[in-house]
Amino acid sequence: MPVSVTVYKNSNGVKCLSTKTKTAYVCNDCGSDYRKWQGQCNDCQAWNTLAEVRLGAATRSSPISRTGFAAAVDGQVKTLAEITLDEIPRISTSVGELDLVLGGGLVPGSVILVGGEPGAGKSTLLLQTLCKLADTESALYITGEESPQQVAMRASRLQLPTDKLEIMAETSVETVCAVAQQKKPKIMVIDSIQVMHMEEVTSAPGSVSQVRESASMLVRYAKQTNTVLILVGHVTKDGSLAGPKVLEHMIDCSLMLEGNSDSQFRTLRSHKNRFGAVNELGVFAMTDKGMVEVANPSAIFLQRGEDVSSGSVVMVVWEGTRPLLVELQALVDDSHLGNPRRVTVGLDHNRLSMLLAVLHRHGGIMAGDQDVFVNVVGGVKVLETSADLALIMAVISSFRDSPLPEDLVVFGEVGLAGEIRPVANGQERLREAAKHGFKHAIIPAGNKPKQPIKGMKVTAVRTVNQALEALS
Ligand code: TYD
Ligand code: MG
Repeated sequence: MPVSVTVYKNSNGVKCLSTKTKTAYVCNDCGSDYRKWQGQCNDCQAWNTLAEVRLGAATRSSPISRTGFAAAVDGQVKTLAEITLDEIPRISTSVGELDLVLGGGLVPGSVILVGGEPGAGKSTLLLQTLCKLADTESALYITGEESPQQVAMRASRLQLPTDKLEIMAETSVETVCAVAQQKKPKIMVIDSIQVMHMEEVTSAPGSVSQVRESASMLVRYAKQTNTVLILVGHVTKDGSLAGPKVLEHMIDCSLMLEGNSDSQFRTLRSHKNRFGAVNELGVFAMTDKGMVEVANPSAIFLQRGEDVSSGSVVMVVWEGTRPLLVELQALVDDSHLGNPRRVTVGLDHNRLSMLLAVLHRHGGIMAGDQDVFVNVVGGVKVLETSADLALIMAVISSFRDSPLPEDLVVFGEVGLAGEIRPVANGQERLREAAKHGFKHAIIPAGNKPKQPIKGMKVTAVRTVNQALEALS
């Protein structure tokens, strides 16, 4: 058993080193560690997920004085003003939507994690991007899941330039780092981090300790050599990233590629970005030519049939730094159950219940004996409260079986007192709607534009009642 060192605090609260041999037990789901094995993880409540990890011997990289602190080095501490503010040069990926989500391109020395379900198109997107990037920057693609032949076949089928991109099938992190030291790529992709392993860690690839150690070695390499490192990560059944939470702390930018396998559209969303806005949304379509970026996403989510049916309304949601027009559908039908159903797809379930209560109390519309189904078209997930007013309109339209005008667009937050509250970026939302040919908008009074918007009639409302009147 290797000699290991643990850090503990003595009675004065000072960190000390102990040379006792130690093993730790780490939860494979959430990464919490325990001194003893136990059946259930106290943090995430998962059963049978603790695995034994042997801690490696500590290495002292800096001289430690008698006080226990590293010897001071001159010139390390500066005021913020003394730090030179060079604009970080970004490498454009030549994929507009990807650049947008990244906040303007790849930053040298940054680590980006691309997560998503199997078949989402992570490998395809990165292969396409790298093949094009390899023309101007040195790039290395490490494939741990597919053979080089498979990757090459895909590249030639997608008619990508294949003469510059270097590829290697490898799962050992030590070898990857050694090859990278030699080749010095500017951009390196690891597909995927879950299959990578290090020799000195005894647990299986994909386990918490392997993922954590492999990622930290790769991240260290990237930071030291100023390489852009892109890690591909799998997601678990509930949609969170497989592997320890620490992975999310190590990286600079976390992107999620989402989309139903029955729909060709994929959305790329940034959940964390040290170099740009979060919750930025990029839209792609998976076609027989690979991942094609969709430059005007509103246009696809708005593909409505010839005549608009009741229960359908278009709303403007704000995604990161831009507005997006999305269709919302509601279906209200007599319920045969004692407990009528409330089903939402792409929206918060509790929000629907709350809005139905507001509608009853302040709008006099009783849906207590009705099943209510709500769906955001195109598989978009709406996290904003600006969808409230649109949801109420769609429910009423379906309840009365009276279609809303085709050129109507709605947004606004609804409060518990039945008031309609303003939302951020009202002007930009209206302008985007006008660009797509909408001629009438029902919006919160607080969002009423000072100057009229050309070609658009704006109805500003203060309460749910006023909104209902605006419909009739
Ligand atoms: P892939 O990039 O391998 O997904 P991931 O790496 O996220 O697991 O994508 C595989 C899916 O994409 C697969 O279901 C087939 C589909 N696909 C296309 O529809 N068209 C294409 O041109 C390619 C390459 C894949
Ligand atoms: Mg893949």
